[in-house]
Amino acid sequence: MPNAKLSKTAQVNLLMLADLGIPEAVRFRDVLQFDSNPLQMLEHIPFASNIPLCISTVSEILYQRANDLIIEQHNPTVLDLACGFSPRVMVMSPRGYTYIGADLPEVAELMAQKRKELIPNDPTLFAGYRCIDVTNREQMEKAVGGLREKITIVTQGLLTYLTPVQKQELMDGVKSLLARDGGCWIIPDANPDRMLDTSFKAILGRRGAGVVKAIYKILDKDVNRSRAANGWQNIDEISAALEEFGFAVRRVPLYRDGLIMWCMGEMEPDAAKRLVSAWKEMSALVVTLPE
Ligand SMILES: C[S@@+](CC[C@H](N)C(=O)[O-])C[C@H]1O[C@@H](n2cnc3c(N)ncnc32)[C@H](O)[C@@H]1O
Repeated sequence: MPNAKLSKTAQVNLLMLADLGIPEAVRFRDVLQFDSNPLQMLEHIPFASNIPLCISTVSEILYQRANDLIIEQHNPTVLDLACGFSPRVMVMSPRGYTYIGADLPEVAELMAQKRKELIPNDPTLFAGYRCIDVTNREQMEKAVGGLREKITIVTQGLLTYLTPVQKQELMDGVKSLLARDGGCWIIPDANPDRMLDTSFKAILGRRGAGVVKAIYKILDKDVNRSRAANGWQNIDEISAALEEFGFAVRRVPLYRDGLIMWCMGEMEPDAAKRLVSAWKEMSALVVTLPE
């Protein structure tokens, strides 16, 4: 599904983390020279000046909690599927994980090209960036190559862009990788129907819902996405589809006390409280093959 617009969504995620001052994201943004603002297309929406902060809370909770869950699982290999421009390697490699980032060529080639600048003192445990289509099982297997270790696969910000058929293909590939040496698949964004709404409502109050609607209308058109046709919009639907495909699905809290969240320093304390309490009612998913 090559789609140049999708790499823009990956750019937005990196820029949001960098705007918050997260050091590894600042470094990646600067090296990749992403200085244009892909959110410019939202400038005419009411409350436009609040949009970056609201979106950055979503980018950050998914990034931080996925990192946290990967570390909790403690499998030696981390395969970041549809990694985009995420700086996750900078968190994983120094902790001893073999990190592989995989994305479509327009993204993975740029990351591979800039690898030396992005990752100073390239850790020996950094396996590299691979050009793959996540809907192709052979390519997924090739991305991991001869590595025979327990694996944590992570997908962040991918599923809502895939059609139902593409999601079946992705699940087929994930299943075959987990069947090799065991491991799990972490899905931090298991509440697509609630994530943006929650942030906008916490920060903007009731007006937030209208802003989210306007954003989706523009973004979905821009990347040619039909969320209704793609499905997997809420956690029950996602869990049921995964279980039907033969996975075991465990819900874990999306937020946990003690998680360091840079975005909290950017908002009013009351908004931060509202946001945390909404996150505490949501879950991420840890998916495995049944015992
Ligand atoms: C919203 S971005 C998320 C990027 C990254 N995971 C993050 O959280 O910052 C979606 C990513 O999915 C990638 N993508 C979409 N379809 C893909 C496919 N079929 N195979 C591999 N990558 C894909 C895009 O290139 C893009 O980098």
